[in-house]
Amino acid sequence: MTQHYLGIDVGGSSVKAAVVDVSSGQLCSAVSRWETPHPATPDALIAGFATLAQALPAAGRIGLAMPCVVQQGRTRTAANIDAGWIDFAAAQSVQQCLQRPVTLINDADAAGLAEMHWGAGRGQAGVVMLLTFGTGIGSALFHNGVLIPNTELGHLQLDGYEAEHRASARVRTEEQLDWPAWAQRVNAYLAHVQALFWPDLFILGGAVSENFALFEPWLRCRAPVRAAQFTGQAGIVGAALAAKLDAG
Ligand code: BGC
Repeated sequence: MTQHYLGIDVGGSSVKAAVVDVSSGQLCSAVSRWETPHPATPDALIAGFATLAQALPAAGRIGLAMPCVVQQGRTRTAANIDAGWIDFAAAQSVQQCLQRPVTLINDADAAGLAEMHWGAGRGQAGVVMLLTFGTGIGSALFHNGVLIPNTELGHLQLDGYEAEHRASARVRTEEQLDWPAWAQRVNAYLAHVQALFWPDLFILGGAVSENFALFEPWLRCRAPVRAAQFTGQAGIVGAALAAKLDAG
């Protein structure tokens, strides 16, 4: 049975895909990257998935990570992509276009699966909260390694704003915050999440986690905080893993 699955991760700024060896979590192709189209409608994105898939070596099932609440193969929300994804039968539509079985999962949940399986959360018992900092803020909650999906904690209120409008990586760039100033906002957010969920461990992900050493000195949090190991590639790896878990 093939252990090579295609992982696709749709973000507010870029779409990334690669073939993943799901016996090890290693990428076995280069990462294909494509700027998220505007508007990021289902038609525009699905046409792009087909082009991405053609550019990569053949692989089995497809795992698709979307920045949306996902239930029963449907995308339910659309915070940083086109509203056409709200209540859209995404798995079925992508499957029809790509002619391969598709597993759909929230992007942060996908990143969390990769980190818990092979990365920073491997073997970690208790409550683990992975937070991804990108265009928005994504969250993935685990208890003893089991995912509780669609937590959507980027939309918590922080200082009168949605948290992802105060502390995402996009806000850091747009407001030209230096690392200490951005870390202060992250600290306020972590304290809020801490007070609600009391995680035993936070894992901070998203491409910005490649720079963890630059902001870690300013992080203050009651629970231990680790950087994601797969950084910005966790969504691709986790999407492929979700497809494997789905295949049984
Ligand atoms: C979306 C989440 C997503 C996060 C990170 C939020 O705006 O609501 O579903 O996980 O962005 O992309």
